[in-house]
Amino acid sequence: MRASILPLALAAPAVVSATNGTLGLSLGDKNADGSCKATSDYEADFAALKSLANSTIVRTYSSSECDTAANILPAAQSSGVKVVLGVWPDTDASFNQDFSALQSAVPGNEAVIDAITVGSEALYRGDMTADALLARINQVKSAFPSTTVGTADSWNKYADGTADPLIQGNVTYLMANAFAYWQGSPISNATNVYFSDMQGAMQHIKQVAGSNFKNIRVLNGETGWPTDGGTNYAAAEAGTANAAEFWQDGVCAMLNSGVDVFYFEAFDESWKPDSTGDNGQVSNEQHWGLLTASRTAKFNMTC
Ligand SMILES: *[C@@H]1O[C@H](CO)[C@@H](O)[C@H](O)[C@H]1NC(C)=O
Ligand SMILES: *[C@@H]1O[C@H](CO)[C@@H](O)[C@H](O)[C@H]1NC(C)=O
Ligand SMILES: *[C@@H]1O[C@H](CO)[C@@H](O)[C@H](O)[C@H]1NC(C)=O
Ligand SMILES: *[C@@H]1O[C@H](CO)[C@@H](O)[C@H](O)[C@H]1NC(C)=O
Repeated sequence: MRASILPLALAAPAVVSATNGTLGLSLGDKNADGSCKATSDYEADFAALKSLANSTIVRTYSSSECDTAANILPAAQSSGVKVVLGVWPDTDASFNQDFSALQSAVPGNEAVIDAITVGSEALYRGDMTADALLARINQVKSAFPSTTVGTADSWNKYADGTADPLIQGNVTYLMANAFAYWQGSPISNATNVYFSDMQGAMQHIKQVAGSNFKNIRVLNGETGWPTDGGTNYAAAEAGTANAAEFWQDGVCAMLNSGVDVFYFEAFDESWKPDSTGDNGQVSNEQHWGLLTASRTAKFNMTC
């Protein structure tokens, strides 16, 4: 298990970790036109991510929607890529659909499955209690005993103790999502906010886990910044230059500090409709990709 070390303050020189973190990408299950991705589409995705971003691990969200687990695992096998599969536990119906998709797709593919995450910000949305989430995680753990099973939630749900039952319940794979952008941070302070978020999550998990911390892998499950065409959020301004700056100053530094990062997201998702936030503000969801929808680079990604 990787012992992740975060720099205590960005003003101080970053703690040099023996190993850099691994870059992964969040990957959607639909093509630019909204159709479901087939195995060949995932193969094209993987070829682009390998050659342009040197990345060989992706994170997906639902195992049943668009038959993601069934379609992506053969592509992972042929491409030498690892996949994090997902389960939506928020309702019994969504849990049962994803669980049964896993039961048919996982056997024989364990070698290319890095982990299964049960829940994506379920605590943040308040869709379930941590105890109910733990029960679902344990149900998936017992069905797939040789696969790592964990969850992903917003960094503050770890930092504020909401997720403590998971830590006490021996969940050993915890993704913390951290978006300085959604905290309305100006780009000039975004790296500070990002590190402070991850540090807040990490320190609380460490404190609650005690001697079991060495068995826990804490990852950054999502971070990112929208490029040109995206919407501003408070003082956070979308734009390709800002995304490139956040990449270089924030993401590269997080990787260099030894933390595994999943960048949200791999490709622009041109099919996505605008979304309306709690504040009534309409925001564009189509320009979060590290790469364009046609799988080309937007900026220099070399750290
Ligand atoms: C905690 O979980 C890990 C990995 O799932 C397992 O190897 C270990 O035996 C568990 N420990 C306890 C006390 O349940
Ligand atoms: C920058 O972010 C840090 C960490 O969240 C925060 O403590 C600080 O107040 C922020 N600075 C400014 C100028 O907003
Ligand atoms: C990918 O790896 C190659 C060879 O090590 C390197 O030259 C290139 O800069 C890397 N690209 C990125 C985006 O990290
Ligand atoms: C970590 O990544 C940096 C580039 O960001 C590279 O210079 C360094 O050699 C890497 N360290 C290890 C141990 O791979």
